[in-house]
Amino acid sequence: MLLLAAASLVAFVLLLYMVSPLISPKPLALPGAHVVVTGGSSGIGKCIAIECYKQGAFITLVARNEDKLLQAKKEIEKHSINDKQVVLCISVDVSQDYSQVENVIKQAQEKLGPVDMLVNCAGMSLAGKFEDLEVSTFERLMSVNYLGSVYPSRAVIATMKERRVGRVVFVSSQAGQLGLFGYTAYSSSKFAIRGLAEALQMEPLETRLISETTSVCKPEQVAKQIVKDAIQGNFSSSIGSDGYMLSSLTCGMAPVTSITEGLQQVVTMGLFRTIALFYLGSFDSIVRRCMMQKAKSETIDKTA
Ligand SMILES: NC(=O)c1ccc[n+]([C@@H]2O[C@H](COP(=O)([O-])OP(=O)(O)OC[C@H]3O[C@@H](n4cnc5c(N)ncnc54)[C@H](OP(=O)(O)O)[C@@H]3O)[C@@H](O)[C@H]2O)c1
Repeated sequence: MLLLAAASLVAFVLLLYMVSPLISPKPLALPGAHVVVTGGSSGIGKCIAIECYKQGAFITLVARNEDKLLQAKKEIEKHSINDKQVVLCISVDVSQDYSQVENVIKQAQEKLGPVDMLVNCAGMSLAGKFEDLEVSTFERLMSVNYLGSVYPSRAVIATMKERRVGRVVFVSSQAGQLGLFGYTAYSSSKFAIRGLAEALQMEPLETRLISETTSVCKPEQVAKQIVKDAIQGNFSSSIGSDGYMLSSLTCGMAPVTSITEGLQQVVTMGLFRTIALFYLGSFDSIVRRCMMQKAKSETIDKTA
C-alpha cells in the first residue's frame, strides 16, 4: 500500500514536470535582445548586464555617475560574443522625474530597438531604528527603490504589451519578504516593489475590473474589523473569506499573536496554496480569481 502511494506520488510529480512547459511563459531569447539595466554600473546590476551580454544581448546601462558607467561599460564589453553587440550608457536619476526617465528610455529604444527586458536594479539601503531615521530617509528610499522602479517600467510597458514580448524584472530583497529589525524604511520600500510586481502581473483585464468597482468592501465593515484586531493586538486584519485566504497565503514570516492564529496559518497556508496551484489547471491564484469575481459581481450589482 505504502509502495503504491509512493509510486503514485512519483508518477504525479513526473506528470507535473512534463506538463510544466505547457503552462509556463515562452522563454525570452537573449541573443540580439535589448536589455536595459537600471543600477547597471555596479553590484548586482552590473553582474546581470554581464550575464545578458555573455548571452548575446545589447545592453543599456542606467545610473547617475558617468565615470562609473563608463568603467562598467568597459568591463562588460570584455565579455562580448560577437562584434555587433553594443553597451549604451545613460546617466539619469531614475527616481526624480518621470518625463526625464521616459525620454532616456526613448533615446535608448531609438538606438538599440524596443526594450525586450528591463531590469530594475537601481536601489539603496539605509538602516537604523525607526525613531532614529530621518523622515527624509523614508522619502528617499521610497523614491529610489519604489518610484525608481515604477518610472522605467511605466516607460517600457506599453510597447511591451503592444509587441506581446518583454520582461520587467524587479529586484526586491529578503527585507521585502519579511520585516527586518532596523530596516523600517528599506523593508517597506521593498515590500512596495513586490506589490507592484504582483499587481502588474495581473494586468490588464483584472485591473480594469477592479478599478470599475469603487469599493470592494464597505468602509464600516473594514473599520470595525481593524478596530477589533487593533484592540486584540493582532498583526493583520482581513475581511471576508477571500481576505482570510489572502492573509493565510501571504502570511510568510509575519508575526503571529496567538497560538490559534499560528496553527491556522500552518494548516491553511499549504492547503490554500495547493488549491491555488491547480485551480482551473493554471497557476493563477484562487484568491486573485475570487477578488476578480467579487469585483465583477459588485460592478454588475451597481449597473443593475
Ligand atoms: N547587495 C545585496 O546584498 C542586496 C540584497 C538584496 C537586495 N539588493 C538590491 O539589489 C539592488 C542592487 O544592489 P547592489 O548592492 O548591487 O547596489 P550597488 O552596488 O550599490 O549599486 C546600486 C546601483 O544603483 C545605481 N543607483 C542608485 N541610485 C540611483 C538612482 N537614483 N538613479 C539611478 N541609478 C541609481 C548606482 O549608480 P549611481 O550611484 O551612479 O547612480 C548603482 O549602479 C538594490 O535594489 C538592492 O536593494 C541588494
